[in-house]
Amino acid sequence: MGLIDFFNEGQIYEVLLVTMSNVTPVGVIRRGNRLFFKLFGGKSAGEIKDHPRASIQVTNDVELIVKLALNFPAEIEFKDRHGYRWIAGLPGVYGRVEFLEEPHYDELGSTTVLKCSLIPVGEIDGTLPPRPISRADFHLIEMAVHLTRLLVAVRKGKLDVAKRLYDDVMLNYLMYKRFGGRSEVARRMIETAKASFGQNSTETPAKESL
Ligand SMILES: Cc1cc2nc3c(=O)[nH]c(=O)nc-3n(C[C@H](O)[C@H](O)[C@H](O)COP(=O)(O)O)c2cc1C
Repeated sequence: MGLIDFFNEGQIYEVLLVTMSNVTPVGVIRRGNRLFFKLFGGKSAGEIKDHPRASIQVTNDVELIVKLALNFPAEIEFKDRHGYRWIAGLPGVYGRVEFLEEPHYDELGSTTVLKCSLIPVGEIDGTLPPRPISRADFHLIEMAVHLTRLLVAVRKGKLDVAKRLYDDVMLNYLMYKRFGGRSEVARRMIETAKASFGQNSTETPAKESL
């Protein structure tokens, strides 16, 4: 049984995408022997276009996923061989990436999406610590997903969308704390959200409820 067999077909999994000089979380879907993912701009998309090879690695360290999404410092070590690069210690696959660029429109405006699929050519050895899942982790992930979109919304001047995303970040922080979450990373996310949107807004959304 290969690593890819742990991915149920059609289900979205949050994994790490390692390109030439970047690591970012992406949602992947397995179809057959391929892993499909979409990149909405960003550094990884540019690197894949220049050098269509990547690794996809699995972690159950939600704080790591979140730090890498927001480019907060993270303690990781890389290995490389035969033009592939990966994070030491995390199980995964490496392979060729096929891609297609398309225009994309959503509430954040128009952009291009790089639709990618990775065809594994090798497996990366690694072991995960026996870390149990916590409902706080789900909310930490949601905070990061909304926060990365909030930063884009603010940059594009979509203030109504930004307001909703800001509220989503704050609400998930509340739930995170309710489930016992205590991490410094969550606090930094709140600071980042406030720095990007909180001060721009005329009101102080959701703040009172914290
Ligand atoms: C759990 C999670 C999943 C994400 N999945 C994707 C994704 O599938 N595609 C994408 O373009 N960005 C995704 N993001 C956002 C990127 O991590 C973020 O926009 C990043 O800063 C852009 O990547 P870059 O380092 O390549 O510039 C995700 C973020 C999180 C927290």
